[in-house]
Amino acid sequence: MKRRQFLGNALAWTGGVLTGCGGGSSSNDGMASGPTVAADALLEGQPLRSLAVLPNESAVAGQFSGTLTAAPTPAALLPGQSTAMWLYNGVAPGSLLELREGQHVRIRLDNRLAQDTTVHWHGLLVPPDQDGNPMDPVRPGASRLYEFDVPAGTAGTYWYHPHAHQTVAEQVARGLAGPLIVRAAADPLAHLPEVTMFVSGLRLDGNAQISAHDSMDWTLGRQGEMLLVNGGRLPVLTVRPGTTQRWRILNATSARYFRIALDGHALTLVGTDGGLLATPIAGLSEILLAPAQRIEVLVTVSATPNARYRLRAMRYQPEFMGLGTYRDEDLLTLATSAESPAVPAVIASSLRPIGELGVPGRRQRIELSERMAMGMMGGGMFGFLINGRSFDMDRVDLTAAQGQVEFWDIVNNTSMDHPFHIHGTQFELVSREAAGVVTPASYRAWLDTVNVPARQSATIKVRQTMSGKRMFHCHILEHEDAGMMGVLEVRPA
Ligand code: C2O
Ligand code: CU
Ligand code: CU
Repeated sequence: MKRRQFLGNALAWTGGVLTGCGGGSSSNDGMASGPTVAADALLEGQPLRSLAVLPNESAVAGQFSGTLTAAPTPAALLPGQSTAMWLYNGVAPGSLLELREGQHVRIRLDNRLAQDTTVHWHGLLVPPDQDGNPMDPVRPGASRLYEFDVPAGTAGTYWYHPHAHQTVAEQVARGLAGPLIVRAAADPLAHLPEVTMFVSGLRLDGNAQISAHDSMDWTLGRQGEMLLVNGGRLPVLTVRPGTTQRWRILNATSARYFRIALDGHALTLVGTDGGLLATPIAGLSEILLAPAQRIEVLVTVSATPNARYRLRAMRYQPEFMGLGTYRDEDLLTLATSAESPAVPAVIASSLRPIGELGVPGRRQRIELSERMAMGMMGGGMFGFLINGRSFDMDRVDLTAAQGQVEFWDIVNNTSMDHPFHIHGTQFELVSREAAGVVTPASYRAWLDTVNVPARQSATIKVRQTMSGKRMFHCHILEHEDAGMMGVLEVRPA
């Protein structure tokens, strides 16, 4: 199929004419799913929900034990209607896992789904055989124990979600994902009130059920979702005027990029995927959050009482051939109370040093490419490849030596952006390249996911500290499931 013809079909599709190409995966036929519930159908304006916290069942100091049960759960999202979701412990989003540096963690997964699942601890430095890889599925009805230590220096905002073979997009769309925070022994921002905002996507069909993935979803990443914060639609966060707060914002959508901005306020970036920056970056009017990324920001709320401001998820422009259905959307209303303004908080000018990984001993090239194809998974119109290949869990795509620092040049030879993620490590973005112009990163930060814009490349410095098999992939979950993933084997030193 020529590009022109493809575009014709795709545009016809957006106009409502179905041109699926067959293929088909486990649980849907790959065709468009029909009418969906309006994006603003859910009740708006409720107070921002606080997240359920997973209780620590261990009485032993320095140990965390808990249980996550993944099970079909009916949810009342629309009045008088029941939506079949798949949830951890019956809550959406999944409970907050609050861990501490140095803790020994034992979490049992009970799989009550009718299909394989796993739990992947996104961004955490856990041993490969405890990281929920697709090679280690937990079968329907089975249980397993995940066991790992939380290393010192890894305080930050993470999340957990399933990672079984080709079912990640569906399981996350049905509700299986939750936040995870690692707390530091000494946290320079511990004196600030803290709010966690877990942003997820939801798309319901005309029967109030989670709509099936269609061929456009499998091409661009899941489209047309409404954004929820802690499971609520456009909730209200009421704060005393003048207060400085620390917000942890997680992008747990399958494919949605957005630029975070708060009306009438500047944002101060203090943390990324792997935790705090060395120094705060103040005065930001917006921050791009790619799928799977997290940020920590400080907000000094306006001193005006009884005022309202919107936290926005603004559309990210460079979309794939303009085909996306993404739009500007509001996440939350920040309301100031009638109280007198608080005294502004004092913020430390140095937060946490970003250590040096060291001098890379090797350079690897990772090329993202696309291929127009019929009969891709779920009727997707493109195959998305890494180094020319589609995912095979029995193959090793790259090797690295345990403890050795490497440069990875991630080259995006496709016409859309991909958020590139590596398991079991926090890496550093060194530079980006666009049209032959190299731009060094403007600040140092720990990331586990980096956006690589269409036709550009990103160079990172990365090190794996544990031996075993690690996944690397595009974190648009539909691309991951469709094969845009590889296996890195870390050889023992
Ligand atoms: Cu959050 Cu392999 O992914
Ligand atoms: Cu991950
Ligand atoms: Cu992708």
